[in-house]
Amino acid sequence: MNRDLLMSDAAHFRISYEINPYMDRSCQPDSDAALAEHEAIAAAHRSAGRTVRTMKSVPECPDMVYTANGAFICDRRAVLGNPPAARLEEIPYFHSWLKENEFDVFDAPYAFSGQGDTLACGRFLLAGYGRRTDRRMHDFLAELFGHEVVALRTVSEKWYDLDLAVSVIDEHTLAYYPPALETESRGRLKDLGLELIEVGAEDAQAFALNLISDGTTVTMTQGAPRLSAALRERGLTVVDLDTTELRKGGGGVRCTALTLDNPAPPRRQ
Ligand code: ARG
Repeated sequence: MNRDLLMSDAAHFRISYEINPYMDRSCQPDSDAALAEHEAIAAAHRSAGRTVRTMKSVPECPDMVYTANGAFICDRRAVLGNPPAARLEEIPYFHSWLKENEFDVFDAPYAFSGQGDTLACGRFLLAGYGRRTDRRMHDFLAELFGHEVVALRTVSEKWYDLDLAVSVIDEHTLAYYPPALETESRGRLKDLGLELIEVGAEDAQAFALNLISDGTTVTMTQGAPRLSAALRERGLTVVDLDTTELRKGGGGVRCTALTLDNPAPPRRQ
């Protein structure tokens, strides 16, 4: 998993509106630093042996660098994101790219944060709701892809996308920040029979959970020594990178890459 990724670029990345608690128009990214930071993330994926495909950003879409919200893709089928109005103009670009690259493309009938709220883990689909994703999307996704949907709601807009609070390390292992999830959702996660790595406030606030793991190498932000140590202890290679500029838009490493190779869930016995 996570060996085939779609990234954009940071050429037009800026804070033009405020749609999450981290965005502040008076705190703009440094353009050169943002470009360098984004290129370093792409380079780290390539060094880990991943394929990085690219979609050029456009001036009218300042958040396009966060490709994770453009769609959720599984088994060559893509459900397009249905984001807040400020980001709607991005979606036709994803539509065109995915069509040109021969994916089957579906529109989301309700609000949907794409991969930001949809984490595939074996037969499970960890699916956020109540912030950027309408819960009615869950049946749509379950029907289309065949996963068991695990509905998870975060406690506040600080975790406006699930991929800031939960991460998939491999098919059997998740990392998460327990206080970010509502009690019932936390219970659902604990009942899955997966190994759960609990992350502390400091790591979670640094967006350390917004990582990409292919089961061998984990690409994540700097500044989360405890999570990176826990992952290294498990035999994983950890590559940690500076994400200072991306944080200004409320995102991290995982937000900048849309996974193209999620497999179909295993068939139930
Ligand atoms: N500024 C972007 C927004 O609010 C950040 C998106 C981050 N993406 C993510 N998958 N968490 O939409």
